[in-house]
Amino acid sequence: MNRKLAVKGIAYGGDYNPEQWPEEVWAEDMRLMGEAGVTMVSVNIFSWALLEPKEGVFDFSRLDRILDMLYAHGIAADLATPTAAPPAWFFTAHPEALPVDRDGRRLSYGSRQTFCPSSPAYREAALRITRALAERYADHPAVVMWHIHNEYGCHNAECHCDTSAAAFRRWLRARYGDDLAALNDAWGTTFWSQWYYDWDEILPPRATGAVPNPTHQLDWRRFCSDELLSLYTAERDVLRAAAPATPATTNFMVMYNFDALDYWRWAPELDIVSNDHYLRSTDPESEIDIALSGDLTRSLAGGPWLLMEHSTGAVNWQPVNRAKTPGELRRNALAHVARGADGIAYFQWRAAKAGAEQWHSAMLPHAGTDSRIWQDVVRLGADLRALAEVRGSGSTARTAVVWDWNARWALELPSQPSAEVRYLDLVRAWYEPLWRAGVAVDFVRPDADLSAYRLVLAPGLYLVDDAGAANLTSFAERGGTLVVGFHSGAVDENCHVRLGGYPGAFREALGVRTDELFPLLPGEPVGLSGGGRASLWSERVRLDGAEAVTTYTDGPLAGVPAVTRHTYGAGRAWYLATLPDAGTLAALLERVRAEAGVRPVVDGLPDGVEAVRRRGTDADYVFLLDHTGQGAEIPLAPGAVDLLTGRPLPENTAVVPPGGVVVAREPQKLFGET
Ligand code: GLA
Repeated sequence: MNRKLAVKGIAYGGDYNPEQWPEEVWAEDMRLMGEAGVTMVSVNIFSWALLEPKEGVFDFSRLDRILDMLYAHGIAADLATPTAAPPAWFFTAHPEALPVDRDGRRLSYGSRQTFCPSSPAYREAALRITRALAERYADHPAVVMWHIHNEYGCHNAECHCDTSAAAFRRWLRARYGDDLAALNDAWGTTFWSQWYYDWDEILPPRATGAVPNPTHQLDWRRFCSDELLSLYTAERDVLRAAAPATPATTNFMVMYNFDALDYWRWAPELDIVSNDHYLRSTDPESEIDIALSGDLTRSLAGGPWLLMEHSTGAVNWQPVNRAKTPGELRRNALAHVARGADGIAYFQWRAAKAGAEQWHSAMLPHAGTDSRIWQDVVRLGADLRALAEVRGSGSTARTAVVWDWNARWALELPSQPSAEVRYLDLVRAWYEPLWRAGVAVDFVRPDADLSAYRLVLAPGLYLVDDAGAANLTSFAERGGTLVVGFHSGAVDENCHVRLGGYPGAFREALGVRTDELFPLLPGEPVGLSGGGRASLWSERVRLDGAEAVTTYTDGPLAGVPAVTRHTYGAGRAWYLATLPDAGTLAALLERVRAEAGVRPVVDGLPDGVEAVRRRGTDADYVFLLDHTGQGAEIPLAPGAVDLLTGRPLPENTAVVPPGGVVVAREPQKLFGET
C-alpha cells in the first residue's frame, strides 16, 4: 500500500506540546498557527505520564480535546507514540528496565529515554500504550501520520545489562547460524586468548582493561541498531494493523556525530523518512552541514522526505548556543526544501516556560509575537505556500558518494593507524568542493544500483564486503569514474585485513599497491607536487598500472605517489592516498568531474552561492541561496519564473538579494546536470 502524507503542498509546523500549558492558551495557539500558515503538528511525543497515570489505566480526555481542536482548525496531526519517555511509575515497578552503561552503572529515571532497549517490560508497556492509541485514534480525521517514538537511540543507543547481554547472544546466534566456531573465526578470538566455548560466555563490550576485540565491538554496534529497529517495527505493526493507510515515520538524526543507527537498514521500514537537523555553533559553514544532511536523508528516502525538527534560533544543548543571524532561519528551512524536504517543522511550537528545554528556541518565542523569530516564522509560512508545486520533485544527481555506517563504525574503532581519521570529517572534506561548485550529489550504499551515476566517490570506505567492492569496481570497469579515498577496502565485513597490500579490495581497480602506511601527525603536513599540502595520512603507494597524478615533495615518502589515476576497463579509478588541502582537493575533484562529464546544476555560480535543482515532471525548481551576504545575479533558462514572488525573472536572471533566496521554476530542458 502506498501510504502518502495527506497534507497539501509543503507541510509546515512543529512539535506541539499543549499539555505543558493551561487550556486557555490553546485558543491562542490555534489563532497563531493560522496566522503562520501551520498545516501539521507533531503531538503527544512526551505525554505518556499524563495518558497512562497508572499501569493499564488510560486517560485520553486531554488528547481527545487536542486532536478535535486541531481538526476543527484544519491542522493535521502527526500523532506520536509517547514511548521515548516512560513514566516514573514504570521504573519503580521495573527497575531492571533502566539501562546500564559500559562501566556497569545503572542509570536513573528523571530525564527521558532511560530504558533498556532489550527490556521485555519496556516492550510490553510500549506496545500496550501504542495499541491503546491505535484503537482510539486510528480513524480520527486529524491524524495523517504516526510519529513513532522520538529519535531512537539518542540517549540510550546501548545498554550493557544482563538482559541486553542475553539479547546480544540471541542476535549473534542468528547471525552465525548457531555456529560458535563461525563466531570465533569471524571475531579472530585466537588473538589474546579470547576463544569462546559457550555462548553464555559472550558479554556486551563492557569496560575492560585493554582494547576490546574489534569484531566484537562492530557486531555490538550492529546489534544495538537492530535492537532499536525491532522496537520501531513492533510499534509500527500495531499501528498498521489498526490504520493500514496511515503512514508511519520516526525522526532520524543523520548528522551531528550521531552514528548509532544503520539508517540504510531502517529507512525501508518507514513509510515516510523524516530527519531532525540542528546547527553546531562551532561550524562556520553550517550551510554545508545542512546540505550534506539533506542529501543523505533524501538518499535514504529514495525521494522526498520531511524535516521533522530543526530550530528557529539557538538550541540549549551546546556549550554556547548561537542564535541565528538575520535571514538564516529562512535560508536554513529553504535549503532543506531544496534538498528534497516536502515538509518543514521545528522543535517546537511554543517556547517552554519550564523543564529541561526552557532555553531552547521555538516558533513562538518567550517574547511572544513582537519578535524577529515570529516575523520570520510567519514569512516562512507564506514562502512554503508559494512553493507548494515543488512537492514530490526529485534529484538530478549524476554523482554519488558512498556512505556506510558499518565502514564508519569500523574506521573509528580504537587501535587504528590514526585516531585522527574521522569518517564524517572525510566525507565532509570531499563533499565541500562539490557543494561549492553546485554539483548535485546523492549518497549510496556500496552495493547500490549505480547505473544513474557517472561519478562515484568513496571516502573512508575502510570496511567493505566483497559484493560492495565488486559493485564499485565494476562501475568503473563499465565506464564510470570511481574515486577511492585512503584506507578504503582495507578490511572485510568481519574487520579482517585484506592481505597482499593495501587498499585491499580496490588494489586491482586502482592499479596500485601499498606496502606500508604512514599516518601524518597533527600539524605536520607534507608537500605535494603542484604546490599543495597533504595532511592526516600517507602511504607508500607503488604503481601497478596507474599513473601518479601528484607525488609527495618532502617527508619520508618524498617522490611517492599521493594521488593516482588508472584506466580500468572502459572507465577510470582514482586513488587519493592522502588528504590534500581544500584547494588542492577542489582542483582534483574538478578535474575528475570534467573527465566524468558531470556539470553543476547551474553554470556561472559565484563563490558562496548555493544552487540546488529539484526535478519535477514538467519543470525544474532551481534554489539559489546567498551565503555571502553580498547577493548575486545568476543567469537561468528563458521563461524562468520566481516562485516566491510569482513573477517572471527579468532578462532570465535571478537576482538573489544579500543573504536571500530565490526559487525559480525553469521550463524543463537539457541544461546543467542531465
Ligand atoms: C531533539 C529532540 C527534541 C528536542 C530537540 C532539542 O531533536 O527530538 O525533543 O529535545 O532535540 O534540540
